Amino acid sequence: MGRYKVLVVGLGKRGKHHATHFHANPTFEVVGLCDIVPTQLAAVASTVGNPATGTDAAAMARELKPDVFCFTTLPDLRSDMIRIGVECGAKMIAFEKPVALTSEEGLKVKALLSTSPAKVVVSHQHRYGKHYRAAKETIAGGKIGKVHTVYGTAEGWAAHMLSHLIDYSMWYNDYARPAWVMAQAAGRHKLEDVHTSPDYIGGFVQFDNGVRGVYECGGGAPDVPEVQRWWGKNRIGAVGTEGYAEVYTGNGWKAVTKAGILTGDGAMAYDQDMPGYIQDMADWLDHGKVHPCSFDNAYAGFEVMMGMLRSAARGGQVTLPLRDGANELEELKRALSDAPLQVTLEESRKEYNC
Ligand SMILES: NC(=O)c1ccc[n+]([C@@H]2O[C@H](COP(=O)([O-])OP(=O)(O)OC[C@H]3O[C@@H](n4cnc5c(N)ncnc54)[C@H](O)[C@@H]3O)[C@@H](O)[C@H]2O)c1
Repeated sequence: MGRYKVLVVGLGKRGKHHATHFHANPTFEVVGLCDIVPTQLAAVASTVGNPATGTDAAAMARELKPDVFCFTTLPDLRSDMIRIGVECGAKMIAFEKPVALTSEEGLKVKALLSTSPAKVVVSHQHRYGKHYRAAKETIAGGKIGKVHTVYGTAEGWAAHMLSHLIDYSMWYNDYARPAWVMAQAAGRHKLEDVHTSPDYIGGFVQFDNGVRGVYECGGGAPDVPEVQRWWGKNRIGAVGTEGYAEVYTGNGWKAVTKAGILTGDGAMAYDQDMPGYIQDMADWLDHGKVHPCSFDNAYAGFEVMMGMLRSAARGGQVTLPLRDGANELEELKRALSDAPLQVTLEESRKEYNC
């Protein structure tokens, strides 16, 4: 029997991954699975020890009193689930990126969490990939000299990919705090998606250690020819005074250093990334070792993302941290032109409907 009882809410793609890997870790015991669509539950339940199942997250949380309240619902559902996690007294709340879709909602999440002693984790688990870690070790080991720029690009749209790009590049910059953000956006098609986003956004961040961040996310972003798979065409890295190091989500990593060129393999894979991500939750609960995917780290990246959306809607530099909440997506719906996106890759046309 695991020492920490876990309730997983939202048994779609990511909920199944979470339930499976909590079950596989002896520290945890999955005591409940919840989804508003009951057919999502049966198949998973039989593989994770046949826990209680139900469709009402609040009722299950009250009854089961989980130590870990984990929710993996789509990004339009955040503060209501956080409230359930806080009210059931869970020691840990674990949820999926992005933190929220708007700063209004993100500030609500933050305010709710500030009333609770719960440890909070947000799933930026790609960083457990060996290629992501090799790039980090190269940068942290000083092999590219003093870092002055970090960057990330992805073909996928912002609510899916931007928080990943920002989180890992901020990791490569030791989570220095962002001071301001400026961005532009194009393309309205994904403003109607549940992962609501402009089709393409590009922007700059100034970090308080002097490092510059540069991000492009969506169908106008540059190709990553090192990778075949569209969703894996992400380039995330750092440039320093003596070289650079970067990871390609779908295909390895590379560094050019004073001592030579370094390369290695690796490809984002949920079954390889989830065990370490879950074990670090156990280590935080058992030994107080703060999880690398802590809410504090994720929220700093979330502010960058919201600052970018806000700058794209309003123009100008946006000062961080954000002091006030806004609905950046509604602002973008009013501000963005009707001009269709100009895609970089032919294969992006079907996603961006252009
Ligand atoms: N970290 C990653 O690598 C990664 C990868 C893919 C998706 N995601 C994120 O994971 C989240 C979920 O994505 P997904 O692809 O698993 O979505 P999904 O649509 O497959 O699953 C969501 C599930 O939540 C259920 N649900 C909705 N409202 C609910 C409620 N009130 N109570 C209980 N269940 C409810 C739905 O019925 C569905 O089964 C999103 O935020 C997405 O951005 C993260």
